[in-house]
Amino acid sequence: MPEYSLMSDFSSPLWAWFIFIVTVGGIFWCFYLLMSQTKLLTKEEGNKIQVTGHKWDEDIEELNTPIPRWWMQMFIATNIFALVYLVLYPGSAIFDGVLGWSQVGQYNTEMKVAEKKYGAQYARYLQQDIAELATNNEALKTGGRLFSTYCTQCHGTDAGGGPSFPNLRDTHWLWGGKPEQISQTINAGRRGTMPAWGAVLGKSGVKDVTAYVLSLSGRKTAGDLKIGKQKFEQLCIGCHTAEGTGNIALGAPDLTDKSWLYGSSHRSIAKSISEGRNGNMPAFGNFLGKSKTHLLAAYVYSLSRTD
Ligand code: HEC
Ligand code: HEC
Repeated sequence: MPEYSLMSDFSSPLWAWFIFIVTVGGIFWCFYLLMSQTKLLTKEEGNKIQVTGHKWDEDIEELNTPIPRWWMQMFIATNIFALVYLVLYPGSAIFDGVLGWSQVGQYNTEMKVAEKKYGAQYARYLQQDIAELATNNEALKTGGRLFSTYCTQCHGTDAGGGPSFPNLRDTHWLWGGKPEQISQTINAGRRGTMPAWGAVLGKSGVKDVTAYVLSLSGRKTAGDLKIGKQKFEQLCIGCHTAEGTGNIALGAPDLTDKSWLYGSSHRSIAKSISEGRNGNMPAFGNFLGKSKTHLLAAYVYSLSRTD
């Protein structure tokens, strides 16, 4: 028995019957149509040229030539093939097929084969700790391939990130760059919550706080720094700390460095403050399994390793 039944694809069994009727009925209908249009010619008739009676100009006539025999036979063979296929494979929607094949089944079988082939290797990597693996070229190659498959669409092919996706090559970490912190990020995911302050601060408040935030990394813009600092101490230090250096327990970025998750422009920093941000790093633990996330953590750790 297949581990997976076709019927579970449908919310109502009616749909399965609908597909069955269209599919199987279609085959019989083709067959009927073909037979109804076919007349085997007697030898005598076959030698005579028949015409439909349509004429163009003076003497261009439409011939009524029967379908070639070989073509007919191929068509019938196609119909028979289709019926045999529906008996063997799950194509008719109401029957799983005598071979018990399914996409899910095939996927599971392939996964089992892969597990057998690579399982031992992954298990060996799992024994080593992340820092140690990060010096193992063989492991890093596999980790790099996993990264290309699962991570580059957000973090970039070189892991350099982009607006809203952190750079994983540098030493600025939202959630911490120690092996176990990186591993936790990849396995369980992370969600950064920066509240929106536009309504609380008002337009000029946002301007002043933005100016103050920019001053933390040595930039000067219009705005009252004194008011900005006051508001910052009132509203922001719970997460970003009094010095503005951030807090990895909350994923609150360091605002004193020159690395910006959402871009360094005045506009995007003011936007973060007035509208808030909600960066979401998906959890990969359940999806990829322990040994793959372990390798990925080693790969990410190796990217910013300085020794
Ligand atoms: C759908 C997009 C997306 C994918 C896919 C993705 N990430 Fe992320 N990742 C993010 C976002 C967004 C953040 C920042 C979360 C935040 O704002 O706090 C992040 C954060 C991280 C961090 C923390 C960086 C720091 O500064 O602390 C690490 C490490 C990381 N990702 C690794 C990975 C790895 C490894 C993969 C592949 C298995 C991956 N990511 C796949 C979007 C993604
Ligand atoms: C509840 C905690 C919390 C508070 C309070 C908070 N922030 Fe944030 N802030 C965050 C987090 C978390 C992020 C990262 C958001 C993300 O990962 O998407 C962030 C991001 C930012 C950014 C974007 C940084 C970058 O690198 O692009 C700025 C700017 C910022 N905060 C300024 C402020 C200011 C100014 C205040 C006070 C008015 C404030 N924050 C209050 C948690 C907080």
